[in-house]
Parts: sequence; structure tokens; C-alpha cells
Amino acid sequence: MNSWSPDSWRKKPILQQPTYADQSLLKNVEDSLSSYPPLVFAAEARELRRQLGEVALGKGFLLQGGDCAESFNEFNAPKIRDTFKVILQMAIVLTFAGRCPVTKVARMAGQYAKPRSSDIETINGVSLPSYRGDIINSFEFTKEAREPDPKRLLDAYHRSSATLNLLRAFAQGGLADLHELNRWNMTFLENNPNRSRYQDLANRIQDALSFMDVIGINSNNTSTLHETALFTSHEALLLNYEQALTRTDTLTGKPYDCSAHMVWIGERTRQLDHAHIEFFRGIHNPIGVKVGPGMDPDELIRLIDALNPLNDPGRLTLITRMGADNLGDKLPSLLRKVKEEGRHVVWSSDPMHGNTFTSSSGYKTRNFDAILKEIKQFFAAHKAEGTHAGGIHLEMTGQHVTECTGGAYAIGDDDLAQAYQTQCDPRLNADQVLEMAFLVADHLKSENNI
Ligand code: PEP
Ligand code: CO
Repeated sequence: MNSWSPDSWRKKPILQQPTYADQSLLKNVEDSLSSYPPLVFAAEARELRRQLGEVALGKGFLLQGGDCAESFNEFNAPKIRDTFKVILQMAIVLTFAGRCPVTKVARMAGQYAKPRSSDIETINGVSLPSYRGDIINSFEFTKEAREPDPKRLLDAYHRSSATLNLLRAFAQGGLADLHELNRWNMTFLENNPNRSRYQDLANRIQDALSFMDVIGINSNNTSTLHETALFTSHEALLLNYEQALTRTDTLTGKPYDCSAHMVWIGERTRQLDHAHIEFFRGIHNPIGVKVGPGMDPDELIRLIDALNPLNDPGRLTLITRMGADNLGDKLPSLLRKVKEEGRHVVWSSDPMHGNTFTSSSGYKTRNFDAILKEIKQFFAAHKAEGTHAGGIHLEMTGQHVTECTGGAYAIGDDDLAQAYQTQCDPRLNADQVLEMAFLVADHLKSENNI
């Protein structure tokens, strides 16, 4: 590879970065982070890459989700636990109903840096630097809070570490046990209109478990029944942080970005000759790139070749975020081109970022039906082109927020104020996510002829 190093991105143009006033403090922070233990182990990233390789070849499904932006203030166990649970519940619905192995990747334990459409935010005639995520500055609308602070990188590292620690404990310590399924989902679903459908599915899983129990397959002797693997991911926007957590794997001698298992490049920073592509081409993690409606088929092939020159099936996930009204026009030519050129990728749908608007009540929101429409069109386009609809990428939370309109409870514009908590984009709440899971499972069933 021509002269890549963890810092070779620094010679390239770069967008969406903060301007730090105190460069020597920034350097000290980067040096500290470079000496800290990695957050993930390279072999785990390789395992995710292997699983995604199966997905790329049509033999699995990727479920990726979590907050738009994790928040330093909302940093507590119930919040982590509830999002963990809802990702698992969704995965169970997809696995069981769709008869399809599901790889679970959380937007958690590091999703702290945000690209913004404007550098400046103006409220009542006062203009301040935009909020760029808690790893950079603070949400509060004051001059001090909005000043980028290098020490926040250390804080983000420690919070990511604690989050990951709890996720690992939940995944392996019993909270993910399939036998617990009824126990952990029912209070959560008390008022959910889909409860009977979910209960029915839970009963069918229970029957399968009872049968296995009788023939001697149980949680004591079969780890897959009581453990799960939940991988972590975030948009690797702040390359100072990502470089500092890049390590050479002792087993393979290859560099991995050990801030998360998977990292992705956002829609606004994927220019071919820019810094993010340069950094990503050298790390060996499984990686993602957001693909918006402006992407041209030839440009996409150049992007794929820059990031996955060996055409390894698990290396690259293309996360399309076109908007419900654009996807039908834009996606088919991309699918066709990538197929014709024989490139192996995972195609995943982010039905959130192309469907954001400001409600009449003044909140940034998304409508459940538009999100669903984009997912439907995603599946339809893949079906028509003979390619695999490989995954979905959602902004979601296990909390009962009111940020997206619609869904079974018909959240309206006027309801948004009740529990609008996001610091960035609106998320599907726990009920909306589960409802979405059933609807996506119906598509998987039809793809798998069930
Ligand atoms: C995001 O995933 O939060 C995001 C900013 O997405 P995009 O890069 O697709 O706009
Ligand atoms: Co977002």
C-alpha cells in the first residue's frame, strides 16, 4: 500500500473538524490516548469482518443501531441496558421470523462526534459555533460550552470504555439468555399494540427451547443460548481520536482502529482525495461508508476500490441514506453497477438520514411511514436487481422518547414536546423499533421464501 501510516491523513484536506485553540493541550491528550489500552481487540474486529463477509454473500443480515449522538449527561446503566435489550429483541424477531443469522452492531461506546450542516448556530440573533458532539464541545448554548475542548477526548474514551464493559457483561452475563426472553420483554411491551404478535413469537421460541431442553440442549451446555455477541461502531469523524487508538495487532502485524469494532465514514466526509478515505484505507477493521442520493455509479466503484482493493466481502458496508422519495430512482443503478463490476459489499439501509424535516411545532423529526417506505423500497430494489438487502442502520433508543412521529401510537407533531431528548437527530423509540422489526421481518421472510 503506498505509504500509509496512522497519521498520513494529516497531509490531506479534511472537513467537519473542530478548531482547537490550545494545540499543545491537544497534543498531550493525543499522546495520553496513544498510550492507553485499546478499547477492542483486533481479533474481535476480524470476527465481525468474517460475519459481514457472510452477509455480503447473502447469508446473513446486519442490524446496526443506537443513538444519533451519545451524550455525556445521559450516561447511565438503564440507558445502556434498554438500548441493548431493544437491539436484542429486534434481532430475535429478525432471526426467528426471517430464519436468518443476524449480526448485531451498536452505535454505542464511542458515537460522540457529529458532522453538522453549518459551522454556526444562531438563536435569537446570537451566533455561536455549532454543537459537534460531546467528544468536541457541549450542547449548552453558551460561548464557553461551545468552545472545542481537547480534554473531552479523554472523557469520551473513559465513557466508551465503561459502556463497552457493561455491554460485554450484559452480552455474556445472562441478560441475553434466550430463556429470559419473556421475562425481559414483557413489562417493556405492556402497552404495545404488537404485544400479542410478539408474545406469540416468544411462545414459539419458548416451545423450541423446551424441546431442546428435553433432548439435552440447554444454557449450561450451549453457550449460544445464553450469550450473544454485540459489536460496537461509530462514525470515525474525529481522526485525532481514531489515530490515537490505532494499534498494530500483535497476531497479524496489521493496523486496526481499536476505538470500536466497526467504524464508518459519514456522507459529508467521503471525498476520495480527502483525509477520511486516507485514514480508512489503512486500517483493517470492517468499515462502512454512507451513500447519499448524490452518489454516481462510477464514483462508487472508485470509492470501493480505494477502500477495498482486494474485494474482500466483509470489509466494506455501503450504508445507503437516500430518502424515501429518492431511493427508487437512485439505488437501482448503483446496485446494477456494483453487481456488474463484481464487487462484494454489504448493502445496508439507513432509512433515517434522508427523511429528516422540521415539524410545524419546530422540532427536527422523522415520520415512521417515511422510514418504513425507504426500507420497503430498499428491499424492492434489491429484489429487482437480484442483490441481497443486507442490513438496516437505525437511530433508535430503548427509552420511551417522542422524537419521530407516527407508528402504532400515532405520535403527532403536538406530542413531540413530551419527551424530545435527543441532542442531535430524532430516534425511533422502543415501541417504534419493535414495530419496525416485525415489518422488516416480513420482508426477510419473503426474501427467504418463508
Ligand atoms: C449519522 O449517521 O448520524 C449521520 C450524520 O449520517 P450521514 O453521514 O449519513 O448524514
Ligand atoms: Co444522525
